[in-house]
Amino acid sequence: MKITVFGSGYVGLVSSACLSQAGHEVLCIDIDQARVADLSRGINPIYEPGLDELLKSGLADGSLKFTHHTQDAVEHGEVLFIAVGTPPDEDGSADVRHVINVARSIGRHLRKDSIIVNKSTVPVGTAEQVQSAICEELAFRDIRLEFDVVSNPEFLKEGAAIEDFMKPDRIVIGTHKESSAELMRRLYSAFNRNHDRVMVMATRSAELTKYAANAMLATKISFMNEMANIAERVGADIEQVRQGIGSDPRIGYHFIYPGCGYGGSCFPKDVKALAATAQQYGQSSSLLNAVETINQNQKQWMFQRLNEHFSGELAGKTIALWGLAFKPRTDDMREAPALDLMSALFEAGARVQAYDPQAMDECQRIWGERDDLLLSGTKEMALKNADALVICTEWKNFWSPNFSQLKNLLNDALIIDGRNLYDPGAMAEEGFHYYSVGRPS
Ligand code: UGA
Repeated sequence: MKITVFGSGYVGLVSSACLSQAGHEVLCIDIDQARVADLSRGINPIYEPGLDELLKSGLADGSLKFTHHTQDAVEHGEVLFIAVGTPPDEDGSADVRHVINVARSIGRHLRKDSIIVNKSTVPVGTAEQVQSAICEELAFRDIRLEFDVVSNPEFLKEGAAIEDFMKPDRIVIGTHKESSAELMRRLYSAFNRNHDRVMVMATRSAELTKYAANAMLATKISFMNEMANIAERVGADIEQVRQGIGSDPRIGYHFIYPGCGYGGSCFPKDVKALAATAQQYGQSSSLLNAVETINQNQKQWMFQRLNEHFSGELAGKTIALWGLAFKPRTDDMREAPALDLMSALFEAGARVQAYDPQAMDECQRIWGERDDLLLSGTKEMALKNADALVICTEWKNFWSPNFSQLKNLLNDALIIDGRNLYDPGAMAEEGFHYYSVGRPS
């Protein structure tokens, strides 16, 4: 099939690369000309395992192309995907301006019956707005065409996006038209083998499914962080509690790891956006608001432990920081707990020596050159003469460090572990002051 994808950001690029791999002819359009030029030469702006290879192979066999010409893009596809950003507005609601702009450009150039598929995460009712925007443009040109707007949210995890696309848990298709559902089934047939993962539902249900999934996952994390804080107070060990509750299949072991709070471009934004939608429809969501507040507080956990340990005397201290990305296998620092920690430390007059296996360039881009930040080439270099080590991301190579070397490099044998990587008993034997989330220290 001939497919056009609007947007070469994270979702647009991964979708384009995977769809081209499945034998479709994909044209991906972006208004950023420099980005289009890079992508056309195989230069990938995103760190995502497996994406480089797919990009190169799609370019090599001609199944994947990039452009910044709207008319070419609209003419190319029988299915037109919208995969542009929906950044948060001031009140937390999702700003759908870019989505509607794309809809308008589609309406201005459309010449044949088509299916427009919305992949961006958008508030309930956006498919109808896209429909109206296209209708208006067509009416302006005095043209009559058959088109349908389908909602097809993505459920990709950063760091595992290619696998999630190739082997999806579900393919949600929101449409009221049988013929659109059939066409979408054909489009996804390469990713829907062995058992049927396609779920056809009403457009508004599909739009809400995306938010409900992320809100549910974020709720699990905030719930566990709340339990961890209770465990700390009452002298229980949250890791034992986690296993104790996870063994109940109704609860399950997945996604109940306590930590220093969730980050990324999705959970914080989507929880707030869903709360804002609920509010717009006259329903205040105290649960979603609590999930968000608990997470904000949890991101302060590391700074609070440091501050208490040093009795508020953080000025002039040097803090080693392992892990900057919001989670392993990505270089993405959006809403990362490490950012909150760094801001608080800088404000308190402390220095930071930071290391991350992938996010060093991103960290440099965010903070620039400053006297109180040293970007260290290795995790060991970050420790040199530091007064404490703080762990913000559970990268694999932080799990089994050489503890005696670690102790020698640090000024003070102090570890604040935001991801519960080590055993508190073993750490005490090694002679560390060790603070972890929801466990006795
Ligand atoms: C999330 C969802 O998992 C995807 O299904 C969804 O498609 C995506 O958002 C999106 O809306 O585009 P992602 O943001 O890549 O994916 O990250 P996750 O792997 O879900 O992790 C989010 C945060 O939760 C991380 O900061 C992680 O450290 C934290 N987390 C996760 C915990 O603190 N505890 C856990 O048990 C699990």
